[in-house]
Amino acid sequence: MAARAFRTSSSLLRTAAVSAPSSFSRPVLAIHQSRRRFAVSASKMSSYYEWEPEGPTVKTEIPGPKSRAAIAELDEVFDTRSLNMLTDYQKSSGNYIADPDGNVLLDVYAQIASIPIGYNNPALLKAARGDEMINGLINRPALGNFPPADWANVLKTGILKVAPKGLDQVFTAMAGSDANETAYKAAFMWRRQHERGGAHVEFTEAEMASAMDNQLPAGSSELSIMSFKTGFHGRLFGSLSTTRSKPIHKLDIPAFDWPQATFPLLKYPLEDYVEENAAAEKAALEEVEHLILNYRVPPCAVIVEPIQSEGGDNHASPAFFRSLRTLTRKHNVLLIVDEVQTGVGATGKFWAHEHWDLPEPPDMVTFSKKAQTAGYYFGNPELRPNKPYRQFNTWMGDPARALLFRSIIQEIERLGLVEKTAKVGDYLYGKLELLAKKYPGQFQNLRGKGMGTFIAFDNPRRDEFLVKAKTFGVNIGGSGKEAVRLRPMLIFEEKHADILLAALEKIAASW
Ligand SMILES: Cc1ncc(COP(=O)(O)O)c(C=O)c1O
Repeated sequence: MAARAFRTSSSLLRTAAVSAPSSFSRPVLAIHQSRRRFAVSASKMSSYYEWEPEGPTVKTEIPGPKSRAAIAELDEVFDTRSLNMLTDYQKSSGNYIADPDGNVLLDVYAQIASIPIGYNNPALLKAARGDEMINGLINRPALGNFPPADWANVLKTGILKVAPKGLDQVFTAMAGSDANETAYKAAFMWRRQHERGGAHVEFTEAEMASAMDNQLPAGSSELSIMSFKTGFHGRLFGSLSTTRSKPIHKLDIPAFDWPQATFPLLKYPLEDYVEENAAAEKAALEEVEHLILNYRVPPCAVIVEPIQSEGGDNHASPAFFRSLRTLTRKHNVLLIVDEVQTGVGATGKFWAHEHWDLPEPPDMVTFSKKAQTAGYYFGNPELRPNKPYRQFNTWMGDPARALLFRSIIQEIERLGLVEKTAKVGDYLYGKLELLAKKYPGQFQNLRGKGMGTFIAFDNPRRDEFLVKAKTFGVNIGGSGKEAVRLRPMLIFEEKHADILLAALEKIAASW
């Protein structure tokens, strides 16, 4: 197949064949050596990735011959059945992901919503080459026992600099599932500590003995964590019990008997279903309260995603979340907001729950993905267990990744990327509305208005849609049954939106 490249012209949804600039084929790492090339002005964001290709290039089918050979070799030693695209990370740049066959796609999937400020970002490259990062990488500490002397400073100038309002402490972890599981443990220990009468009350002999038998002492009842149907909170043992997105994630794995409430699956367009949607949210809240009061294993915490992401991009109104906060407080149940996917800017606020105007903060907020590191924020000191080693593991996070997040935060702030994401999201949403009018069957239930670039729609032939997207130069992800979810990076600009929109229209027009 002849090389095809795409970029937008002045007409929104027209594409023109152009070649990617030849500079792009130079090794990215070499390009980054030139200071001049990444001199950036905050007001002129488009110059930030001046070596980015003007548009995608599709040279072969994907996977092409080189990728197929490499995948076959890989498959001999590593399960490749979930493989989406074999990637050449050295050649990937900014918003563009490259493969070994020379294909370069606009990436609005971004490693499952995890790349914050572009592939081979020069600022991160610089941070990675610095002594501090090298030290963090080659002298990885067991953080609970031997934290680096400047760990407080690293936290205060990084992870805690962007802490959600009202939450000034952090427990660092290694992945989203780990962040959630450790938050669950904090919730259980907090509740039991209350039941015992405070942090100073010693454990009884009966408690200690029964703990070693995986039992509770006689007379105690189990506790649970409540989650929502179609929610996703990870795949480790504890987190998997709260995950309710797809059976394939859960089959054969022992799970806790924990309650699940219905998430209010809203109907679109929202303005046509105001009463119906309000009724769905009210019913969901009533169910939450009913389960808190009556479930056979009472919950000590409720975990919720601001937008159910893996479950299909399901939104609820700020009023729903405000009521959830009030309800959990009323019943002395903790509220854990899982911002693993929604956090770090993509919704046009640093944390998605900032959209809710909560009467008081959540008790814990978990994070990972775009933060590159992970953990949970909390404010109440009682959420620190009463004794050391109750919440502990070897790494307890990773200083190198915490340093990377600090550099990411600096870039986000320097370039105003959260505000820019809000704006470009509005632009993208507006154009998608037009596409949805033109091809109503293909852009169903468009959602994410006012939520930055955290936008999705349903397509009845979603899986085919995503395969076709690659042939038109765009890497897009799906979620839930038939959602096409957009997860661009924070450096996604209007010019990238135009390329994406052009590709989306080509897909729609091809059916
Ligand atoms: C909302 C949410 N929570 C938790 C997780 C689990 O994170 P990880 O895959 O890093 O364990 C994910 C992953 O997609 C997620 O989207």
